[in-house]
Amino acid sequence: MSKLSVAVIGAGYWGPNLARNFRSSPDWELAAICDLDRERAQRVADQVGRVPVVTLLADILADPEIDAVAIATPARTHHDIAIAALRAGKNVLVEKPLAASRDQGANMVSVAAELGLVLMADHTYCYTPAVLKIQELIASGSLGDILFIDSVRINLGLIQPDVDVFWDLAPHDLSIIDFILPGGLAPETVSAQGADPLRTGKSCVGYLTIPFGDGAIAHVHVNWLSPTKIRQMVIGGTKRTLVWDDLNPQQRLSVYDRGVEIDRDSLSSSERAAATVSYRLGDTWSPALPETEALASMAGEFAQAILGHRAPRTDGRAGLRVLSILEAAHRSLGIAGASAAVYSAVPEIPEKSEIPEMITVEVGA
Ligand SMILES: NC(=O)c1ccc[n+]([C@@H]2O[C@H](COP(=O)([O-])OP(=O)(O)OC[C@H]3O[C@@H](n4cnc5c(N)ncnc54)[C@H](O)[C@@H]3O)[C@@H](O)[C@H]2O)c1
Repeated sequence: MSKLSVAVIGAGYWGPNLARNFRSSPDWELAAICDLDRERAQRVADQVGRVPVVTLLADILADPEIDAVAIATPARTHHDIAIAALRAGKNVLVEKPLAASRDQGANMVSVAAELGLVLMADHTYCYTPAVLKIQELIASGSLGDILFIDSVRINLGLIQPDVDVFWDLAPHDLSIIDFILPGGLAPETVSAQGADPLRTGKSCVGYLTIPFGDGAIAHVHVNWLSPTKIRQMVIGGTKRTLVWDDLNPQQRLSVYDRGVEIDRDSLSSSERAAATVSYRLGDTWSPALPETEALASMAGEFAQAILGHRAPRTDGRAGLRVLSILEAAHRSLGIAGASAAVYSAVPEIPEKSEIPEMITVEVGA
């Protein structure tokens, strides 16, 4: 079967990882690397071997042999590049976060749907063996109903010029939670508290609280100022609790057959309050995980979605749900951490006439 053809746009920090994985994918032909900075693009082309280098996005979009683009440029440029690519008939993979605002993301989702093209968000963690296993365990009922999720993603991070720590790091946690929860993550409200103790002008430490489901809650802690790196998620269920420590390759996942027992269904709330809870103390086990690179699986999923004319696992709507929560978190920061409403994430598909005209992307702007 012939391969699909893809160009990678953006050859900075993350673009080379996409280029390497598309280059080695059985599904893809890497057609070109595009960056405003020719030297940067050339370096990546040399690393992956004999790939044309382009500085004009228009040249990629005008090439009828190219089926798709993978956008690894800064978030503020995602919307315009993606819309131009969709309008040129290309399927689009976009790095996280999908766009710089919810409105932009909604427009991208609408245009892709209208044109019948695949729009996929590179929510990389959703393609890791650990997250796939967590999703499988939750879907199979192994953890029971989810009661809480506690996610910590902290390290000494680069203070980004254009985004705060929520927009930089929390897309990872939010996309993972969205993926592992049956039905996705669609809270009505969120609250966020941020701190900027170094006076950088943006939150460097962030705490995000997300009520979801029937009384359940998720908490996300993101931080650029921590000298120790922690990548940990605890997922508590009515049957079992799972701990994911992404920095412990020997035992990334631990499933604890321990928990608090209380009959949630048959007792009234006053009876429940008075009832004695009991603690179940069982075994701990660690699921075996295959060693596969997330971006290789992600590239495969992008190809299968295009060939199968179906939505990919992390489609534009998943990216939009993440943007909706990030925007609500931003509003919550502005009201001292009070709850802010999360606006409905899924746009109506507009009539053709409502879709904005082709956007010219100023390469070099
Ligand atoms: N999935 C992940 O785990 C992960 C990790 C890191 C970064 N990212 C995401 O990847 C994206 C890029 O981040 P980065 O750290 O690589 O940024 P970067 O600044 O290192 O690189 C961006 C590159 O894009 C180029 N560029 C900018 N506008 C362009 C345009 N119009 N046409 C062509 N090239 C253009 C720049 O010259 C630069 O080389 C961001 O959205 C970021 O959030 C994702």
